[in-house]
Amino acid sequence: MKVLFVCLGNICRSPTAEAVLRALTTSNKVDLTIDSAGTAAYHIGKSPDERSMAAAAKRGIDMQGLKARQVGKQDFYDFDYVFAMDKSNYADLSDLQPADGKAELVLFLDEYGSKERDEVPDPYYGGDLGFEWVLDLLESACSDFLTRIQK
Ligand code: 4NP
Repeated sequence: MKVLFVCLGNICRSPTAEAVLRALTTSNKVDLTIDSAGTAAYHIGKSPDERSMAAAAKRGIDMQGLKARQVGKQDFYDFDYVFAMDKSNYADLSDLQPADGKAELVLFLDEYGSKERDEVPDPYYGGDLGFEWVLDLLESACSDFLTRIQK
């Protein structure tokens, strides 16, 4: 199974989701292909935001080596799931989605996790607490996703 996380810039939320789920699959010995991308082109080729990397590292999650890329139509043929971080990402992805693509497009928190929120809030213009919150939401939702696909 192949899973793609998508946010706006691919430097904060979606690479965090990629790293969180990868850490969980490694520790649970689950074979899953995981990637992330952004709807926007601003940060193509860049490493994740240092604040995301620092917050993840404090929880033992490694985001080094990840590089931003932009999502494309082909991703809907290559992946089984495309997980949008917020409703704006979902709308942009819905516009891009080809009718015959195999991927299921899902607003990630609408389907997985505690459901107290249905969007991962964009932490880019805020303080450090925003990055911790992103991790809290993604750890819960990724763990829920993994539990459900293992059933
Ligand atoms: P992300 O956060 O979508 O979680 O990667 C953002 C990163 C960059 C910008 C906005 C959001 N930006 O405007 O450059």
